[in-house]
Amino acid sequence: MSNNENFAVAIDGPAASGKSTVARRLAERLGLIMINTGAMYRAIAWATIQKGVDAQNTDAVVAMLDDIDVSCGVHDGGSTILIDGVDPGNALREDAVNALVSKVAAIPEVRELLVAKQREYLTLGSLVMEGRDIGSVVFPDTPYKLYIDASEEVRLARRSAEGLADVVSKRDAEDSKRKASPLIVADGATVIDSSEMDIDEVVETALQTLKKQGLFVS
Ligand code: DC
Repeated sequence: MSNNENFAVAIDGPAASGKSTVARRLAERLGLIMINTGAMYRAIAWATIQKGVDAQNTDAVVAMLDDIDVSCGVHDGGSTILIDGVDPGNALREDAVNALVSKVAAIPEVRELLVAKQREYLTLGSLVMEGRDIGSVVFPDTPYKLYIDASEEVRLARRSAEGLADVVSKRDAEDSKRKASPLIVADGATVIDSSEMDIDEVVETALQTLKKQGLFVS
């Protein structure tokens, strides 16, 4: 599955399904690096705003990719991203980014650039990586695949409880319908519906599922 002994746990699912929290908790529990790929797409959307590039204009976004330096790393066990040396920080979760990110993520050249960087992370160590296409495209050969779901009602409630007015349903529709690597349940992935579970139950279910998929859990 890779050119070394490192492995990836792939966690996909729609927006606000709880997958980031589960991924973070699993990474801590298993001693793995946690990679948030949504932040990478968000950083490109943020860059379009910074550079005054129209995110609806695919050619302009693709041209921008040649002009910016996208640097991915790890800090404190989690992924980091710098655009031209700048950490966008909390700006990645702002409404302006929420509104643009699905458009930018639908551009094949953006995906190609970021998927290559996502695969490169495996050279640093074993990972929990969360996103939309991790089990289907980034690491299709990993045996460890989860798809964390939750009803739309629950997902909207979770986002507003966080004080965020995210356009969750609109993003999900765009992410699921796009041509390039749409959000799907990957072959071999186990679906966990977290609608009726608290976070501890989801993490426990995820651990048990990964064990069944063959992962050694001490
Ligand atoms: O996980 P998130 O909500 O922060 O992701 C933001 C957007 O990035 C999401 O609406 C779709 C896109 N994305 C993607 O297309 N592929 C990924 N692997 C991760 C995120």
